Amino acid sequence: MNEQQRLQGQLANSSGNSSDKKSEKDYSKYFESVFMPPSLKEAKKRGKEEVSYHSDFSIDEQFKGMGEGRKFYIRTYGCQMNEHDTEVMAGIFLALGYEPTDTVDDADVILLNTCAIRENAENKVFGELGHLKTLKKNRPDLLLGVCGCMSQEESVVNKIMKTYNQVDMIFGTHNIHRLPHILNEAYLSKEMVIEVWSKEGDVVENLPKVRNGKIKAWVNIMYGCDKFCTYCIVPYTRGKERSRRPEEIIQEVRHLAAQGYKEVTLLGQNVNAYGKDFEDINYRLGDLMDDIRTIDIPRIRFTTSHPRDFDDHLIEVLAKKGNLMDHIHLPVQSGSTDVLKIMARKYTREQYLELVRKIKAAIPGATLTTDIIVGYPNETDEQFEETMSLYREVGFDAAYTFIYSPREGTPAAKMVDNVPMEVKKERLQRLNALVNEMSAEAMMSYKGQIVDVLVEGESKKNPDILAGYTNKSKLVNFKGPKSAIGQIVKVKITDAKTWSLNGEVIEEHEMAEVK
Ligand code: 5AD
Ligand code: SF4
Repeated sequence: MNEQQRLQGQLANSSGNSSDKKSEKDYSKYFESVFMPPSLKEAKKRGKEEVSYHSDFSIDEQFKGMGEGRKFYIRTYGCQMNEHDTEVMAGIFLALGYEPTDTVDDADVILLNTCAIRENAENKVFGELGHLKTLKKNRPDLLLGVCGCMSQEESVVNKIMKTYNQVDMIFGTHNIHRLPHILNEAYLSKEMVIEVWSKEGDVVENLPKVRNGKIKAWVNIMYGCDKFCTYCIVPYTRGKERSRRPEEIIQEVRHLAAQGYKEVTLLGQNVNAYGKDFEDINYRLGDLMDDIRTIDIPRIRFTTSHPRDFDDHLIEVLAKKGNLMDHIHLPVQSGSTDVLKIMARKYTREQYLELVRKIKAAIPGATLTTDIIVGYPNETDEQFEETMSLYREVGFDAAYTFIYSPREGTPAAKMVDNVPMEVKKERLQRLNALVNEMSAEAMMSYKGQIVDVLVEGESKKNPDILAGYTNKSKLVNFKGPKSAIGQIVKVKITDAKTWSLNGEVIEEHEMAEVK
């Protein structure tokens, strides 16, 4: 399917009238001035059509040199998936001849790569758009774009069109590879350029990337999510689950290993569903991890897991350890079976605890961390207490904790909620106190131990101190030679704080500077 046919399909979809036989000529108008707003209703649909794989991404001749003498700036909000999308967009900008800059004042194009997961994430973006208004007023040639998850939401796009006319372009998470076309359109058009496909795109390989750093890298293994937890906007903003082919992923990890990267994190909104969509092969996350662990790279991680699809084969493979790190992030969301049911998580408290038991039995000493939402609509004190007791029972090392934030278009947003905000805040405080207490306890147990630390650079607070992470993702600060940056060194832990460890190097190996 070529771009034009695809866009025609998208237009038919977004108009809600797929049988509308518009002539090609009509559609070409849309190419001249792209206006394609999103639809959450369309995004919710899960069609049976197969995912197409494209490995032929290239920059169109007509766009080469578009960025000469121009600079780009991308501000990223939200999760690692967004961070990685930013790396891809930076790669496309460079391929177009743009130069990067880290100040908005120097930029000729500014992109806000946004996050829609909670209301406060969105408010930050609207605040930033407000700040950028003056800049845009003073420099009308500046292009200002909004992309990422917020652009997939109808209400956001409507709000931007109404209130933020300083924005020149809005494009969605499925349209990243269309960036050269969208920029071109924005330069030519006086109108706001909006290109947001509500139906997910296919899998596009060979996109250029500018990785942020030479030590750790992210590798997408799948896109989208089909879980539709009732509170979550992600299945709408990121589309249906599409797995990358194993050979593409393995080749990318091999390439990173050859370039000297020390750690790879396999990324997906729900990595445990990896491979479910393959029709020709029976190959799941366990198989992928088993293949990737044979690659000569010191550390492999993955995120994020959904307990439901965490199968025995994966546990068996993780138990082989080696370069597979024994830190598992396993979002539980709530300790109450009733709340889990309303969240449509499709497991019970007992099933979650059973999974934890299996993981701990197969991988002794494995570290578990989690995500928790408090103050779900109508959550009772007892149900919240079940979350507290589950946290203790599992013995998590750390957690990301959130107050439930209603997301327009999701089933939970329609639920009547009888829990006052004050109560939600109080629950969050109590949970956070427990999270801190247990993190401090876990950290104390490291005192006197020798750990492997992948040194990432100087500590943010003190350039004489180096900082890095252990196999189990604990932050360690220690005195050591700058040549250790990019290497894995042995550090003896001398002191423990709630969220970090202090130590001293006991052995230095492979101290050659990272190229
Ligand atoms: N409100 C609060 N937290 C949310 N999360 C996802 N959606 C919402 C929401 N509507 C949290 C979940 C998820 C993490 C990435 O963000 O805990 O695991
Ligand atoms: Fe959202 Fe994760 Fe649930 Fe998917 S599995 S709907 S991304 S919380």
